[in-house]
Amino acid sequence: MKKSLLLLTGALALVTLAGCGQAISGAIPGMGMMGEMGPGGMMARHHATIDSEYAGLTNPVAPDAESLARGESLYTLQCATCHGDGGMGDGPAGVALDPAPAPVAHTSRMLGDDYLFWRISEGGNLSPFNSAMPGFKSRLTEQERWDIINYIHALGSGRVMPKEAMGGRPFDPEFEVEQRTQMLKEAVKQNVLTMDEAELFDQVHSAMDELMAGDMPRGGGMAQMQEQILADLVSNGKITAEQADAFSQIHDSLLESGLMK
Ligand code: HEC
Repeated sequence: MKKSLLLLTGALALVTLAGCGQAISGAIPGMGMMGEMGPGGMMARHHATIDSEYAGLTNPVAPDAESLARGESLYTLQCATCHGDGGMGDGPAGVALDPAPAPVAHTSRMLGDDYLFWRISEGGNLSPFNSAMPGFKSRLTEQERWDIINYIHALGSGRVMPKEAMGGRPFDPEFEVEQRTQMLKEAVKQNVLTMDEAELFDQVHSAMDELMAGDMPRGGGMAQMQEQILADLVSNGKITAEQADAFSQIHDSLLESGLMK
């Protein structure tokens, strides 16, 4: 555990975990403004509880080529203007919004389908979000909303390349890992974390990335997903229960510090 943090740069897994890789405010177009919700705001989003009408729903539409094609044209028409072609929150109409559009290709990896369906149906005009995200339950059929969710997942796993329409960068796992490394370096520099904590965070994070690469269906908001994934890693013997607890604590310190967005 005493390796230099610099060693992390080369050693990281290729895939990164949604919601945990974002570094320094302003580094990513469309992400910087989210900091203005304040650290408390980020924590509230992370722990948001799904409305009971939606909690536990699973996607009934298989992510086959037809669904992805429908999802692509719906997404391009209804969402890309704010969320960007690649789903990284950097569409032209999103620039002036506070909070900024979420990088859904990235965050959806850590969000259950019930959470996504809830947010797309009801939009952002509710606490703790209070955002310009429109609700689509009267504009899109249920199947259309599930098609879009399939498409967003495909964008976030690199299974499809974004259609060029509104602008915005594609999801790039290597870039996300780079951001995470930078964030951890900054956290050590600012005494938010010790070097050992940064290393433990990175090690557990890489194990989570590996587990998540195998596309398993999950439900819930970010905090619940994180708990489920950590519990799986503990039962697979990949990490200890102590490491899982330490990870969650470090994760909260990073959220509170405002370094993780
Ligand atoms: C007017 C701009 C705008 C449009 C159009 C828009 N969104 Fe959003 N969206 C936002 C903003 C701003 C947020 C971030 C604040 C929030 O969570 O409410 C957001 C958040 C989300 C989230 C939550 C992600 C997370 O990490 O918590 C999802 C999912 C989402 N949008 C999907 C969509 C989909 C799918 C469409 C098209 C059907 C769409 N949005 C259209 C602005 C928009």
